[in-house]
Amino acid sequence: MTGAWTEASEGGGPLDGTLLRLAFGCFPSGVTAVCAMADGRPTGMAMSSFTSVSLDPPLVSVCVAHTSTTWPVLAVLPRLGVSVLAQDHGPVATALSAKRGDRFAEVAWAASTTGAVFVHGSTLWLECEVDRQVAAGDHDIVVLRIHALQSHPEVAPMVFHASRYRQLGPAR
Ligand SMILES: Cc1cc2nc3c(=O)[nH]c(=O)nc-3n(C[C@H](O)[C@H](O)[C@H](O)COP(=O)(O)O)c2cc1C
Repeated sequence: MTGAWTEASEGGGPLDGTLLRLAFGCFPSGVTAVCAMADGRPTGMAMSSFTSVSLDPPLVSVCVAHTSTTWPVLAVLPRLGVSVLAQDHGPVATALSAKRGDRFAEVAWAASTTGAVFVHGSTLWLECEVDRQVAAGDHDIVVLRIHALQSHPEVAPMVFHASRYRQLGPAR
């Protein structure tokens, strides 16, 4: 593989946001919806930074931008629902990242008795609580402890790559 390296300078330099977004977009991920009831209304946001962390105790993580206005509302709630979106959930991911309007108007959702909110048709539901939050640059790494789960491995997940919603190809 040939190509030019772009290097960071002491002051942050040429590794600007556009370049880094393109670079990070080379890594494919799933997309999750992190949602809960707040003041009697479903509240939530799309997050592609989801990662499994630990089996014992059961932990996962997401990274949240310091600019998020939804996260501070979610962060103080006792339980959060994490839904791993399915391949046909493109409109859900778009709705749950919208700046304006009712994010849940076109989303089929359900709430648990504890207030966690889940998206219907997802491949995995995790009911979680915030375990800890660690500042990391312009994001926080949020560690979530899993209290309950429901998985549907037969449901094909959404794949997010290069800013586009894609689907898995056949297994080899
Ligand atoms: C596919 C996708 C993945 C996203 N992943 C994240 C993420 O991992 N972390 C994050 O803070 N925001 C992420 N966002 C942005 C949030 O969904 C949301 O748009 C942003 O937080 C601004 O809305 P807010 O001010 O209501 O929080 C993602 C958006 C999309 C469409």
